[in-house]
Amino acid sequence: MKREYIFIGPPGSGKGTQTIMLSREYKLPHIDTGALLRAEIASGSEIGERANERIKKGQLVPIEIVSEIIKNRLKEKDCENGFILDGYPRSLEQAKALDKIFEEIDGTTQTDRKVFYFDIAEDSLIERLVNRRTCPKCGEIFNLKTIKGDTPPLKPLKRGDSLFCPHCEAELTQRKDDTEEVAKARFETYFSETHPLIDLYSKRNLVCTIQADKDIKTVYAQLKKAVEKNGN
Ligand code: AP5
Repeated sequence: MKREYIFIGPPGSGKGTQTIMLSREYKLPHIDTGALLRAEIASGSEIGERANERIKKGQLVPIEIVSEIIKNRLKEKDCENGFILDGYPRSLEQAKALDKIFEEIDGTTQTDRKVFYFDIAEDSLIERLVNRRTCPKCGEIFNLKTIKGDTPPLKPLKRGDSLFCPHCEAELTQRKDDTEEVAKARFETYFSETHPLIDLYSKRNLVCTIQADKDIKTVYAQLKKAVEKNGN
């Protein structure tokens, strides 16, 4: 059965952290729209330039850009047995576009489709975001602080004042949209445009709620339990 998992939750709720762990264990490609857009920006492409205008304001990138990127990515061979969509869809309009993409790519394939909703109050998330650091090479996610007494699974390497990824030794970087000001705008965008998807997918009986305010390991345990329930 093809596994099609969609991760929805506010910025900093831990979608990326959990997707990395789940995609390694279940050998599913991690499709992270934000990372795909940041790669376009880094390449200096026209798409990247258009995306950057919105990302730096905490707004959604136009649908024609993201839906095309996702459609092409989901048609690639490594997605044949499934994938994790981290950051798409993010609006009712994108959900409609995704329904069409699924119709086109899945045909009569049997799918185990689930939507994981990362439920967490907004107040703890700004601190997570401003302290996030990522590896520009492998995408591993770190945090400068331990929050609520828990420790991210990996500690970065420290040399002088700089931090490096323990996998590939690249120097960790901070995302440009991880400032308090942009994070606030991202929350507003999330609540007005993305959160209504929970209602839409609940009506289709697809939603598994994950209590995302727990430590990373506990969140992962919930996720795995939900994945294995009726899974294959
Ligand atoms: P995107 O990159 O997708 O950002 P986001 O959705 O705002 O989510 P984040 O990546 O910020 O957070 P996360 O939930 O993955 O948290 P993480 O695991 O890293 O999108 C960026 C921008 O691109 C958007 O604003 C938009 O402009 C554009 N875009 C993207 N997709 C689009 C689309 N479909 N349409 C249009 N535009 C789009 O964790 C955060 C931190 O917390 C880390 O430091 C981590 O170590 C720590 N942490 C994680 N879990 C825990 C835990 N349980 N306890 C303590 N700390 C934790």
